[in-house]
Amino acid sequence: MSVDSSHQRQPGLIQIYRPDAAAVRAELAAGLLGPAARIAPKYLYDALGSRLFAAITELAEYYPTRTEAEILARHATDIASALPTGATLVDLGAGNCEKAARLFDYLKPARYVAVDISVDFLHQALHCLQREHPLLELLGVGLDFSTQLVLPPQVGTGPRVVFYPGSSIGNFTPAEALAFLRQAREVSQGGALLIGVDLVKPVSVLEPAYDDALGVTAAFNRNMLLHLNGLLGSNFDIAHWRHRARFDTEQSRIEMYLDAMQDQLVQWPGGERLFRRGEAIHTENSYKYSVPGFEALLSEAGFAQIRCWTDRQNWFAVFTAQAA
Ligand code: AVJ
Repeated sequence: MSVDSSHQRQPGLIQIYRPDAAAVRAELAAGLLGPAARIAPKYLYDALGSRLFAAITELAEYYPTRTEAEILARHATDIASALPTGATLVDLGAGNCEKAARLFDYLKPARYVAVDISVDFLHQALHCLQREHPLLELLGVGLDFSTQLVLPPQVGTGPRVVFYPGSSIGNFTPAEALAFLRQAREVSQGGALLIGVDLVKPVSVLEPAYDDALGVTAAFNRNMLLHLNGLLGSNFDIAHWRHRARFDTEQSRIEMYLDAMQDQLVQWPGGERLFRRGEAIHTENSYKYSVPGFEALLSEAGFAQIRCWTDRQNWFAVFTAQAA
């Protein structure tokens, strides 16, 4: 080797906490055995699930990803002017880090911190990113922030821009979302929040977005059972489960279910459940907000100077809000 790469910056990588296999199995079994069976939406994302979600974002019916990207591209300069420059950009649920990378030229962050449930997902993306941005300090943090958002000291001092795109906030109930936003405000260390939020719209647009004609969302949802078979050692037969998505107007949320198409006994080491035909497993909620409704949530969480950008159809909103 003639090339000395020792002066090349390398992304830092830390895994904070990974629940042990027994804890995961206990959580899954408890969810399956409840009167109304449910599994947390984070279990949608094994390797195949993550790829199926990426495919969902390409579907004609699934408007959120492209609408958010349009808003961020169209208003990048304005949005950046509402945020501190030279801050640490903290990307919650970073995945392939693509969305945040598009903001670098505008936000000029001093440091980029990619947070995702497993640092393994971030490793590759951050190495590619480092090649494109050789001088930027990059840090990958493996952390499940769905129950608590606390960052390790390695993320450093100084104000942070917390970036939470994609309307992932929609997976929380409004009460959980409020608690999460309060933590995001703490975590920003006097900085700001940049968040994407999906808005209420006609059911004729919402439901197909979660039940597309090609069946990709159905595959994404049903794949959860294959993931469970691997994690729990269960014997779900996906041929006997059907995807269902409905918008609950009262609660302003899309609900996703897997419906048993026939009576069946599902077994796993240490447990079993008889599912009757028509019984459902609740796999995801995706809350939809109004602009004033989400503004109220942000101010209740202690944020100030709230600004909002939307698309022409008012389908999706991007908010900036200051912690101080
Ligand atoms: C990643 C939670 C934002 O709720 O729209 C997409 C997940 N589920 N299609 C969403 C999802 C089914 C997505 N979030």
